Amino acid sequence: MKIKNICCIGAGYVGGPTMAVIALKCPDIKVTVVDKDSSKIDRWNGKYQDLPVYEPGLADIIKKTRGRNLFFSTEIDKSIDDAEMIFMAVNTPTKTEGKGAGMAADLRYVENCAKNIAKIATADKIVVEKSTLPVRTAEKIKEILSNNNSDVNFEIISNPEFLAEGTAIKDLFKSDRVLIGGEKTQSGEKAVEALAKIYNRWIPKEKIITMNVWSAELSKLASNAMLAQRISSINSLSAICEKTGADIDELSNAIGLDHRIGPKFLKASVGFGGSCFKKDILNLVYLCKYYGLNEVAEYWHKVIKINEYQKDRFANIIIDELGGNVENKKIAILGWAFKKNTNDSRESAAIEITDKLIENGAHINIYDPKVKESRIKEDLNNIWELKSKSEKDLSNRFSRLEIFNNYKDAIKETHALAIITEWDEFKEINFKLVNQITNKNPKIFDGRLILKESNYTIGK
Ligand code: UDX
Ligand code: ADP
Repeated sequence: MKIKNICCIGAGYVGGPTMAVIALKCPDIKVTVVDKDSSKIDRWNGKYQDLPVYEPGLADIIKKTRGRNLFFSTEIDKSIDDAEMIFMAVNTPTKTEGKGAGMAADLRYVENCAKNIAKIATADKIVVEKSTLPVRTAEKIKEILSNNNSDVNFEIISNPEFLAEGTAIKDLFKSDRVLIGGEKTQSGEKAVEALAKIYNRWIPKEKIITMNVWSAELSKLASNAMLAQRISSINSLSAICEKTGADIDELSNAIGLDHRIGPKFLKASVGFGGSCFKKDILNLVYLCKYYGLNEVAEYWHKVIKINEYQKDRFANIIIDELGGNVENKKIAILGWAFKKNTNDSRESAAIEITDKLIENGAHINIYDPKVKESRIKEDLNNIWELKSKSEKDLSNRFSRLEIFNNYKDAIKETHALAIITEWDEFKEINFKLVNQITNKNPKIFDGRLILKESNYTIGK
């Protein structure tokens, strides 16, 4: 089957960069990215320096492709109708209410999306599951599609995303592997082949792996769980290092030199963030519990518990090192994004650390090179709305917060500064520079092991 038109539903961190790269590599295919959020679409169509997703290299690709064969639009129905292949890249947050709350994925957006495709489609469609989803979701999507429209054939294929934010474009250009899961029927195999042909424009054949749908779905959860598990393992060891005098960097290096283990993802930190790790592990835990595999569920749940422990431990260390009391002390939080080179702050350790310090009476100055002030406030508002006893209580919390547009102003007059995100610009920070800028000799807490000099570094 020749694909001439692709529609991607969801213009977020996954849909935007992925479609930009497909459009770049396949100039003969018209790629339309649609979203129900019109302000997001306006920003995708607006200035290159204000795209809704910040990723190194992304703006350059948008410059080359936008208006050529890449389009951003709110005309969802038309774009579904025109396309032979539809990617679903909508958000799948963790459920906040109902059965499985706090653990299972909220499939509302995926289900709405499938219902809409069923309503519009007048010809056969290949539907590609791109959002991170629990295992067996493809089956559910298929059910929704065929129950709501029996006139056309829908082929559902799972093509999990492995891009990491901050390096998304690099990852899309040079993927370790592309997984495509489909049904072993004739039309299923044709659909898989159609997608494989698209990736094969720039990914070598041997890296495009076809498998059954459920293997593809579970591979994504399992890969993220294994990566997160390495971070929780090294973070748990960082706590032992602090007690014994061993150095976590030296330990990571020694462990990583074993070729069976390898050096990557062994960097101790204040805890992993991002929209995937926690959510995917919770999905895995939920799946295990559903099948009565309680020991397996507990095993993976511990990865998240260690992560929570690490974030809390870092906040407690700041409090302890400032004499056990941060009431009315001013502390700068440097970095709000969950990692460098992204403007995404979902599940960032900075959120909980800031909350805990403010809960203990501190004043917090925040600076991040890419996360907007409105986003920082929204992140905190999400927790504070639930915690605050009254409007006054909520506004009291906000009154302890100030957001800056450079780190030098943010650290002036502070008692301490905590580096949460490993942005390159923070590498230059050291005692001498800090003392030149401030007059209070603030303590430096390095959560990302990027400084040679600091009062406190995780694992040292
Ligand atoms: C992750 C997976 O890597 C990617 O394959 C999947 O598609 C989506 O989820 P992402 O969350 O974007 O990607 O970034 P990643 O680089 O994996 O980092 C996640 C978190 O782990 C960050 O907070 C990062 O700072 C932290 N981390 C990473 C560590 O604390 N130590 C490390 O050694 C590596
Ligand atoms: P991800 O990190 O998975 O890409 P994002 O939240 O960044 O998640 O992006 C998902 C996007 O999907 C959001 O911009 C949201 O508005 C959009 N979306 C969700 N449901 C629908 C829908 N039914 N139709 C169109 N867009 C949708």
